[in-house]
Amino acid sequence: MKIMIVGGGGREHAIAWAVAKSPKCDKLYAAPGNAGIAELAECVNISVMDAPALVAFAKEKDVDFVIVAPDDPLAAGVADAFLDAGIKTFGPRKNAAIIEASKAFSKDLMKKYNIPSAAYETFEDADEAIRYLESQKAPYVLKADGLALGKGVLICQTLEEAKAGIQEIMVDKKFGEAGNKVVIEEFMTGREVSVLCFSDGKTILPMTSAQDHKRAGDGDTGLNTGGMGTFSPSPFYTDEVAKFCEENVYQRTIDAMASEGREFKGVLFCGLMLTEKGPRVLEFNARFGDPEAQVVIPRLKNDIVEVMEACVDGTLDQIDLQFEDNAAVCVMLASDGYPVSYEKGYEIRGLENFKNKDGYYVFHSGTKFDDGKVVTNGGRVIGVTAIGSDLVEARANAYKATELIDFDNKYMRHDIGKAIDER
Ligand code: AMP
Ligand code: GLY
Repeated sequence: MKIMIVGGGGREHAIAWAVAKSPKCDKLYAAPGNAGIAELAECVNISVMDAPALVAFAKEKDVDFVIVAPDDPLAAGVADAFLDAGIKTFGPRKNAAIIEASKAFSKDLMKKYNIPSAAYETFEDADEAIRYLESQKAPYVLKADGLALGKGVLICQTLEEAKAGIQEIMVDKKFGEAGNKVVIEEFMTGREVSVLCFSDGKTILPMTSAQDHKRAGDGDTGLNTGGMGTFSPSPFYTDEVAKFCEENVYQRTIDAMASEGREFKGVLFCGLMLTEKGPRVLEFNARFGDPEAQVVIPRLKNDIVEVMEACVDGTLDQIDLQFEDNAAVCVMLASDGYPVSYEKGYEIRGLENFKNKDGYYVFHSGTKFDDGKVVTNGGRVIGVTAIGSDLVEARANAYKATELIDFDNKYMRHDIGKAIDER
């Protein structure tokens, strides 16, 4: 088959790696891809949001199967554009991607179908939101309704901060249209776990668990980022927790979406918090996580193309999803200053150290070719993933491997997966 991936980050590199090793893949394209993906696929410089150009390219090249990986194009209906052009496509339609694109939608869905989550209220008026805040206790959790690059959630310790947050989101429109509505949620505490699930609209198959480290600095300090590193599996995702979520979250959510006429095909990402009262949904995403994909996909035993086709064809009940009995840790190498401001264009040295190095992966997030060299081209530059027999070994391997890659302004966290020592 000729396969095309829409996207150009570390998640797409991990997907491209798995697709390229499938016997079903004869030719791989990526739009726009990056310098790492270019080793596996022919990259074409089309924006992930340019549906007409993407579809025209896929038709011109007789592409048989498309994978739309990032949130923005899914929310904008790029999967619909391919499907409506008669091209088999992995990724939910716009009417189902709304489960990520609108927090108000997903909260209302959870309430209606009794899917465990935090109590909440939704507001379209800033004054009403502030009056509500005045009746609540700190800390306050404010969520811009729409997509905001993972930065639209504010946890405020004081009423003043929360009021300023409402001003920023709803009045100053810091996140643009995403702030037309705001969800104010009950504050919860507990371990966070991400479980990504394949779904064909009826059947849902959970993958192995993972955990992201979202804050920029060691010890979970600093600003929220797209993700500074991940580990898989999560030792806190016990069989008991898994059973609870299988009964009360995954299948119920897919069935709820079907009942609403919003059949969900693709990857449903369930962000969970393990509270004292049991697991609660923090958020849903309509795609693989980044950098969750970089630790989950290398542990997948199945042919990913077969699983993705089953999602599109509605035959996921025939798939026996299997993961290796090992562990993976991904440490993100970023540009110093990320997520605020950072420089780009520095040469990345040492990539050749990873050629044929079993159990190690370098997944490019923000890189490009410049004059025959691979250079930094984003805040998050490269994710270094290492496998180990357990998390402690995987983490040691990953940190050792980070020393093999160097570029100016290289920055990383030093405690990815550290929570695993606390068991
Ligand atoms: P979200 O994008 O909804 O997952 O939120 C981003 C992060 O904010 C989560 O990973 C949590 O760390 C935190 N968060 C979100 N909702 C809550 C909540 N209700 N209580 C406590 N922390 C939360
Ligand atoms: N790593 C979190 C996300 O992909 O949303």
